[in-house]
This record gives sequence, C-alpha cells and structure tokens, in this order.
Amino acid sequence: MKVGILSGGGDAPGINAVIRAVVRKGIEYYGYEIVGIRDGWRGLLEGEFVPLDLKAVSGILPRGGSILGTSRTNPFKHEKGAEEILKNSEKADMEAVVVIGGEDTLGVAYKMSELGLKCVGVPKTIDNDLAGTEYTFGFRTAVAIVTETLDRLHTTAEAHHRVIILEVMGRYTGWIALEAGLAGGADVILIPEKPFDLNEVCKYIKHRQEKGRNFSIIVVAEGAKPKGKAEIIYGERVDEFGHVRFGGVGYYLGKEIERHMGIETRVIVLGHVQRGGSPTAYDRILATRYGVAAIDLVHEGTFGCMVALKGSKIVPVLLKDVAGKRKTVDLELYDIANIFFG
Ligand code: F6P
Repeated sequence: MKVGILSGGGDAPGINAVIRAVVRKGIEYYGYEIVGIRDGWRGLLEGEFVPLDLKAVSGILPRGGSILGTSRTNPFKHEKGAEEILKNSEKADMEAVVVIGGEDTLGVAYKMSELGLKCVGVPKTIDNDLAGTEYTFGFRTAVAIVTETLDRLHTTAEAHHRVIILEVMGRYTGWIALEAGLAGGADVILIPEKPFDLNEVCKYIKHRQEKGRNFSIIVVAEGAKPKGKAEIIYGERVDEFGHVRFGGVGYYLGKEIERHMGIETRVIVLGHVQRGGSPTAYDRILATRYGVAAIDLVHEGTFGCMVALKGSKIVPVLLKDVAGKRKTVDLELYDIANIFFG
C-alpha cells in the first residue's frame, strides 16, 4: 500500500519527527511505501511527490522545519482544486494521506475526506489553538523559547529601569503568551481572548513602581487588541484561508505607555524565532507518538480522523468534530497568571 504524507500551514518544531515516525513504522512494521508530498496541499494539487525511504528520514528527529516543505495553499481556492487532488492521488496510487496541519490544513483534510480522500490528521501548530486535542506539537517548544527570552529580557529591563514589551505569536488565542508569561514571570499578559484596557496596563506598571520595582515586563500576543478597537494588522493582504498578517500591537502599546507614563519602553517582536530550530524533548516525543498513531489508524482503515492527546493517551477524534473549531485559552489559568500582574 502507498501512503502519502504532507505538512501544511506554518511550520512547527516536530514535523520531521512525525514524518520519521510514519515512515519508520509504515515501512518496517506494515511494509508500506511512503510518499512525501511537497509543500502541503500544493504538492497534491500539482502532483509533486518525493519517495520517502528509511534513509530519507535518518537523522531528522531533532531537525526543525519540514523536509517536505510547507505552504498555505487552499485547494478550494483553486479552480477544480479538489478534483485535481483526487485525480493526482489516484494517479500516484496513493491509498491514504497523513495530513500534518493546523486548523486550515486539517479543515481541507475534512472536506477532502468528505469527497473520498482517505485522510488521517496530525495536530500541528505552535499556537495550540486546535480543538479536539489537549496539545498540538510545537507549542511546548515555542513556550520554552519565549520563556528563555523573558528570562533574558528581565535582566536587561531591570538594569535599565525600562518597560520591555515582548510581542509573541498567537493570532486568535493567547496560549503562548499565557503559558510563557506565567513561566517567565511576566508582569502583564495580554491575549486575544481578553481585550485590554490601556489604563489598567499603566496601573500595573505604576503599582510596581510603588513597590520599588522600576521595571516591568509585558507579554502581548500579536492578536491582542485594545477594548473597543480592532486588532492591529501588518497589512491588508490575506492568504488563501483569509488570514491577515498580525503584528504591531507591541509597538502600539510601547508608544502609548511612553506617552501616558513617560517611562522608557522598548519593544521586541519575537516572530519566527518561536517556530524555528529544534523541538524540545516533549515535542519530539509527542510528535513521534502522533506519527505512530497516525500510521496505525491508516493500517486499521480508520479515516476522516485526527490523532489527539487526551490525558496521557493518543486517541482518534473525528475531523468533522475539529474542523472550524478553535480552542481558546483556559481562563482559570489566566486568573492564576493574573495574581502575579503588577
Ligand atoms: O499559525 C501559526 C502562526 O505561527 C501564527 O501564530 C502566526 O500569526 C502565523 O503562523 C504566521 O504565519 P506566517 O509565517 O505564514 O507569516
């Protein structure tokens, strides 16, 4: 049997660990032929494949990025895109496809499943905003990178008596900001789920000054917005899934804080550093478990599913129940973080 594998959307540390697991178990235990699909759904749309043997996946476990490449291609935005995909997978004798992706890529997997493509999804995104699973792989690595950054920013902010704002990824949810902010001792955490009030942010900084703490660290998710206002976006261009590019809320805040309080404020936008490089041990293990579970589902003939983490187990959930749903932050956790604000 021939099984295809693709990675779509923004990359996340651990994609290669999934690919390795699918190839190793698929070939060594089930005798399958595994075919890599280039750049997410684009590769199936245009019939661009690469054979994946044991040698091709040797040494890739700790590597970031994706050996297959990735893209934000939405086949449903291309004329006859879905038909092309069915035609190309049939022509290549691909009986099943393992789809590594976030909400967009897996949303396509769901629609393609309904049209007859046999798909198994693997939940990937540093944002951790996918419904149906407790954690997506890549998230923990991003949190570790942001936490280390916060530790570093603390020492310099303290030495210079500055406010430092760290803008992190998270378009619609503040998982990275919240967990890294909690781990890194941020004085204020701003997330998309809770529009912020500038006066309140200033109050926290002032409260710290009153306690003799003349520096503050603020973590803000890129999708956080001031109360009653829209998100701050980088440009009007949208991708094939209709997403605009966020970015700039950190600078907005920095200017406002300086204007209101007269404190020197510096802004750091961490960007793709959060997604690049090697996955942590946790993400390598989670990604490997996901990959093994995905190829096991293919072997069982269970399709239209995504592998998911529930408690300590990896279980299948229906793509139908995941598609179009978003997992927002745990507000109880936000309340805990809030204890340490100001
Ligand atoms: O979806 C994951 C994510 O990292 C978001 O947090 C971020 O807004 C987006 O991808 C950035 O995507 P790109 O690298 O395509 O600009």
